[in-house]
Amino acid sequence: MANRTPLIAGNWKLNKTTAEAVALATEIKSGADAAGSDVDVLVSPVFTVLAAVAKALAGSKVFLAGQNMHSELSGAYTGEIAPTMLTDVGCSHVILGHSERRQYFGETDEGVAKKTKVALDNGLLPISCVGETLEEREGGKTMDVVGRQVDAILKAVSADEATKVVIAYEPVWAIGTGKVATPEQAQEVHAFVRKRVGDVHGPAVADAVRILYGGSVKPDNVKGLMALPDVDGALVGGASLKADSFLKLVHFDKQ
Ligand code: PGA
Repeated sequence: MANRTPLIAGNWKLNKTTAEAVALATEIKSGADAAGSDVDVLVSPVFTVLAAVAKALAGSKVFLAGQNMHSELSGAYTGEIAPTMLTDVGCSHVILGHSERRQYFGETDEGVAKKTKVALDNGLLPISCVGETLEEREGGKTMDVVGRQVDAILKAVSADEATKVVIAYEPVWAIGTGKVATPEQAQEVHAFVRKRVGDVHGPAVADAVRILYGGSVKPDNVKGLMALPDVDGALVGGASLKADSFLKLVHFDKQ
């Protein structure tokens, strides 16, 4: 099995002023750097504080990500941000197709797939999100939905590019609800996603791709999730907003 470095990613969503974001980033920086090189750490603040957070994180191991981007590099797209603007401000990654973007802002499988390719073309590593709603799970459609979402992303990139994509499986019913997927539910979907990667791009790519779990990841459940063979990290909302709980996730092996 490939040696996949775990990635603990904090999605700050629509939270934190500049002063609050810099304070949080500064605390995370010292705690994360102490974790050594066996775990990757990332934070994703709102666009307006990216420059200040990049400065606060300078010289640290903590990666910086945008929460979204547009697929065009410039032009008449009021309110949008280009991938080149994210790299310009110090981002290495970008979160794409989060379920909140799909639910509230009309993002489609095709749009997320296109953005994934454009991010790679412009030097950003995408964290592309997939996941089913409660209705879809209860209707027995989880694998259909996740398979469709993952296929769109995989078909937009080459095998080589696919190794750089991080896929985040986030069951919509687990996000912000405190209702974490059971280890069995998470492993089942993660293994399915990895198989799908293998079907499209071959076993070596499937072995290399990191698949994060997201949805109510907390200090008290992170260890069990990270122990699963196909879970390579976590995309965290609520528990990433405080240094104390986020750093417990970063040090998941000590929980
Ligand atoms: P949560 O959010 O950890 O608050 O459930 C996860 C996410 O939306 O990425």
